Amino acid sequence: MRLSRYFLPVLKETPAEAQIVSHRLMLRAGMIKQASAGIYSWLPLGYKVLKNIETIVHEEQVRAGHIPMLMPTLQSADLWRESGRYDAYGPEMLRITDRHERDMLYGPTNEEMITDIFRSHVSSYKDLPLTLYHIQWKFRDERRPRFGVMRGREFLMKDGYNFDLTKDDALHAYNRHLVSYLRTYERMGLQAIPMRADSGPIGGDDTHEFLVLAETGESEVFYDSEITDLKFGDRQIDYDDVAQCQSVLEEFTSRYARTDETHDAALFDAIPEDRRRSARGIEVGQIFYFGTKYSDAMGAKVVDHDGNRVPVHMGSHGIGVSRLVGAIIEASHDDKGIIWPEGVTPFHAGIVNLKQGDADADAACQALYDSLMTLGLEPLYDDRDERAGAKFATMDLIGLPWRITVGPRGLKNGVVELTSRRTGESEEMPPEQAVTRLAQIYGRAM
Ligand SMILES: Nc1ncnc2c1ncn2[C@@H]1O[C@H](COP(=O)(O)OP(=O)(O)O)[C@@H](O)[C@H]1O
Ligand SMILES: [Mg+2]
Repeated sequence: MRLSRYFLPVLKETPAEAQIVSHRLMLRAGMIKQASAGIYSWLPLGYKVLKNIETIVHEEQVRAGHIPMLMPTLQSADLWRESGRYDAYGPEMLRITDRHERDMLYGPTNEEMITDIFRSHVSSYKDLPLTLYHIQWKFRDERRPRFGVMRGREFLMKDGYNFDLTKDDALHAYNRHLVSYLRTYERMGLQAIPMRADSGPIGGDDTHEFLVLAETGESEVFYDSEITDLKFGDRQIDYDDVAQCQSVLEEFTSRYARTDETHDAALFDAIPEDRRRSARGIEVGQIFYFGTKYSDAMGAKVVDHDGNRVPVHMGSHGIGVSRLVGAIIEASHDDKGIIWPEGVTPFHAGIVNLKQGDADADAACQALYDSLMTLGLEPLYDDRDERAGAKFATMDLIGLPWRITVGPRGLKNGVVELTSRRTGESEEMPPEQAVTRLAQIYGRAM
């Protein structure tokens, strides 16, 4: 993409309405525009990051054996009356009446709808285990939408639902989700800590929330500092292996880590004092096991080995896809702007032409652009007729992890400059070498 042809409406002024850094930076970098309270348009740069996050979520869900599908945003109230949640949900649910005076709602979550799909088509234990998920917009009429996409009213969520014959099988599904989530967040450059949490309106006994530590987080959290040393890394997981998933769960959840809702001062105080931490965190996901709550209420039963019709054991598992865009920025920025982790960056590298119109500089930029594209990398080429300072400021604001700076003076010596956004360090090298380095960084074969 050439910046001169792109749509990147960056703001010079810091928007007064934004209280936290991610919201400020998303507005300034031209990623989103508010449509109404808690509802946003995703402008091209923001949309790219959102899609990258979605892709990682999809890849890791499919890796864990979960099956993608898509359910609608609008739902019939009847299903929610069956589960008893139509009245229980309260004013957070956006209720709509269609032209035939039928009660509809904009889905805040999909337990009822997926349970209805399940009971219509599955009747035997032989079709289990089954985990279905989708990535779809949700609406919750939050009392206080705020912090940009972090607490929106309309937001994008991955929600997955497991159906199992026994409690043990369903707990394995729970563990499988926990493991896949650890991998998902790490690929986005985030450390998200699973913490024992409260189940809220979803119901159930077993639940963990995943929290990214950040001063601006809405949740108060308490944890043993040893937990932040844990890394998932590139370990190979067999998601069908019950013992392996269980042992990863134990590794990541055996130390104390709780949100304020489940905090237990006595247990916390048993940790050596120098390891006790209290902090704030952003909830980027949550997993639940709730047994037969919905299958009982809605008659989702299967025939078991003995020919008895039994309700299935279920759980639901959510990732806040749109919230993650903000959470990643909260975790990765400096006073100049965003610093995208390589895993989610909207463009792999920026190319800054210091002297637009200079034949050598233009040709060198174009050659770099073509080589990167050939490797399957997407550069953003700042080909505008602007001062170098303004070009650097834009690149720093929008946070591409790597920048190649090309100018006539360097080219006389056969070099361009490769700069890391994170460290600010620059290195001069021949253009071909800059391409090789980026190929290595992004794991592309030359
Ligand atoms: N209002 C919101 N705006 C953006 N993301 C949200 C919002 N509410 C929930 N999410 C995201 O969706 C994930 C799954 O939702 P869920 O656990 O059902 O939400 P909650 O804990 O708020 O009831 C949350 O972990 C969070 O990351
Ligand atoms: Mg939650």
